[in-house]
Amino acid sequence: MLFSKIRFLVPIILISFLLAACGGGGGQKGQPQAGGKPEEKKQEQAAKTQQIVAKFPHVVAPDTPKGKAISLFAKRVEEKTQGKMKVEVFPSSQLYGDAEEMEALLAGNCHFIAPSSTKVVQLNPSFQIFDVPFLFDSEEAVKIFWNDPNGGQAMQKKLEPKGLMGLGFLCSGFKQLFSSRRPLLTPEDCKGLKFRAAAGGILTEQFQALGATSVSIPFGEVYTALQQKTVDGSENNLANIYTQKFYEVCPYLTITNHGRFDYSIITNKKWFEGLPADVQNAVREAAREAQEFSQQEQIRQDNEYLEKIKQSGKVQVFELTPEQRAAFRKAEEAYYPKWEERIGKDLFDAAREANEAAKQKK
Ligand code: LMR
Repeated sequence: MLFSKIRFLVPIILISFLLAACGGGGGQKGQPQAGGKPEEKKQEQAAKTQQIVAKFPHVVAPDTPKGKAISLFAKRVEEKTQGKMKVEVFPSSQLYGDAEEMEALLAGNCHFIAPSSTKVVQLNPSFQIFDVPFLFDSEEAVKIFWNDPNGGQAMQKKLEPKGLMGLGFLCSGFKQLFSSRRPLLTPEDCKGLKFRAAAGGILTEQFQALGATSVSIPFGEVYTALQQKTVDGSENNLANIYTQKFYEVCPYLTITNHGRFDYSIITNKKWFEGLPADVQNAVREAAREAQEFSQQEQIRQDNEYLEKIKQSGKVQVFELTPEQRAAFRKAEEAYYPKWEERIGKDLFDAAREANEAAKQKK
């Protein structure tokens, strides 16, 4: 009796086992059966495996206008692509410093960078237009220049033969001069001093025009160079002076508003053109939003930075009289014909026209 029951049960058990192993029983192959979830999980999984992960290293603090604009760019790309692209941001030279980020971009080890335009001078001299001291009169003029097909837009196209592509600009404001040696109120005060410059070319000549010398030092090493007095001073925007604490080691700061560090958002052309069209559009839109945001943020924050620097009690802040500013300007303008020839008359004209257009808007 028992034997005949077992004989009857064994095939049933075997068949059930085989059906379960093959995914039988009416459910989806290899999937739990709870209502709707397997499909969602599958899509989630597919999105994860297909997600494009892009790296965006930069050298400044995350809470500067530039740093905030890059974080906004990353957020907006992810939102606009519904997670198809994730942009990982690495601030404060965490991943690459000035010297390595362009190489990393060309090698495909990162996907976006935003160096100050001066740092791409080796690719094209026109990128030093923002370095020309006293060329741009106002933030509004800079904004007009960025968007001008004969200005910023033409400039960014010049990257393409180098395998790169410009997606927009960012900024953190006008540059100021500071020193650990003495107050800088006239060109003569700068004579004989050695300054840190972000790059060579026009910046070297800018300091030469003041009877000074300069040396290029990567951004991440500037504080130490100032502290150890390898250099006597430097120039930078208030966002960087405050967040990098340069004011702690340079007790003399002069508000000169003489030149700019405007940043180009640059990507690798081949990589970018290989992205799906909707992702490319989302990235372009996010770059435009970041551009707009960085300038609004910079205008909003500049005074705050200056106040905080003053409140530190570690630095004397000097405002130039119109005559003192004119003396600096005169010393620099002596180099204009040379710079105009190097950068291109078309870009110089676009900058001057942007100044005029900005005045009309007031
Ligand atoms: C600098 O080197 O001082 C700047 O270009 C850093 C930056 O990106 O603002």
